[in-house]
Amino acid sequence: MTDFQALQQREYPWMTDSDVIYLDHASTGAYPKATADAVTAYVSLRHMPHTLRPEHFFATLQRSRELVAQLIGASAAEIALTTNTSHGVNLAAFSIPLTTGDEILTVDREFPANALPWIKRAERTGATLVRLPCVNDVPDEAALLNAIATRPNVKVVAVSWVSFCSGARIDLDAVGTACRERGIWFVVDAIQGLGAVPLDVSKTPIDILASGAQKWLQSPWGSAFTYVRKERIAQLEPPTVGWMSTRGSDDLFNMLTYDPVWFEDARKFEIITLPFPDFSGMNASLALFQELGVANIAEHLASLGDRLVDFCDAHPEVRLVTPRDRPHRAGVFAIQPPELDATSARLKANRIFHSVRERCIRLSPHWYTTPAQWERVLSLVLG
Ligand SMILES: Cc1ncc(COP(=O)(O)O)c(C=O)c1O
Repeated sequence: MTDFQALQQREYPWMTDSDVIYLDHASTGAYPKATADAVTAYVSLRHMPHTLRPEHFFATLQRSRELVAQLIGASAAEIALTTNTSHGVNLAAFSIPLTTGDEILTVDREFPANALPWIKRAERTGATLVRLPCVNDVPDEAALLNAIATRPNVKVVAVSWVSFCSGARIDLDAVGTACRERGIWFVVDAIQGLGAVPLDVSKTPIDILASGAQKWLQSPWGSAFTYVRKERIAQLEPPTVGWMSTRGSDDLFNMLTYDPVWFEDARKFEIITLPFPDFSGMNASLALFQELGVANIAEHLASLGDRLVDFCDAHPEVRLVTPRDRPHRAGVFAIQPPELDATSARLKANRIFHSVRERCIRLSPHWYTTPAQWERVLSLVLG
């Protein structure tokens, strides 16, 4: 079992003597020390650009593709580096073939990054965006599976793995399998799940997965990626053209051939130049996640969640919006106490950093949140 405490002392020495309880990973992850060091070192080199060596450029990016691939069970050739989640969702929305009468299936209460591109694509093509209502503020998985099975015009299913506001986790295996059976494109916004819960796309049928690394993967803003399943790469015509996305374009000694044939791998979806310091930081964070083991993190978060479920059972006046069962939650926990604003103010006054989303208090702990800290948070929910 990973020694979380030793890794916390190594990577977050400031936490040892601090009264801060940081529970806002659903907004912004905290850089590990190794990541801060990597970014700082890169920025210092950039101050004297003649000190940058070839490995600081494209080898850094290749390492990023490899580390992301290892994280999700893909191959590096299926990873396109991007600067945010939105890039990948837009890629999906504007390159999957769609026409009038086709249906794009999603759920209500999606984060705007996974709603607006689809709304715009539907407007432009005459496709219909079908948004299934939530039940008790969480996506209705049964209705989603039923719609996939019964609506013949569905061409795309696009959902967040974990909801930014309720914390509900969708069963990607069930939905992905249903999509695969009918040849439907399955697109996943994974930013609220990756780093909190394991995912293996060699087993889970996903066509396109978009994620930033700035939250649960504790990496810089500007480091993000899109996975495109290898059988799907050739089927997509990128809506944007990067100068290093076509055959031979990585030969910097011969740049004027303008060969318009796409790379065969997912680099065809990249828009270079990318922020090298941010990716060098992401590489340090992803190396730490290999040490931590995402399955260990998931188990830790599940046990904090179990405690929250018990707390809400004992205090029914606190509404738990996040599903109660482990498979349908990850690291985002949403509660509605009777006096929401007062609770939020009390938590803030006690240096418990959280966010309020859609009239819920959103608590998003991570691997270093201790059970004692969690108890302290719960003790302050009702005053
Ligand atoms: C579900 C979800 N998707 C996307 C994003 C962010 O998108 P981007 O990385 O494009 O800023 C967030 C949060 O900021 C989110 O919660």
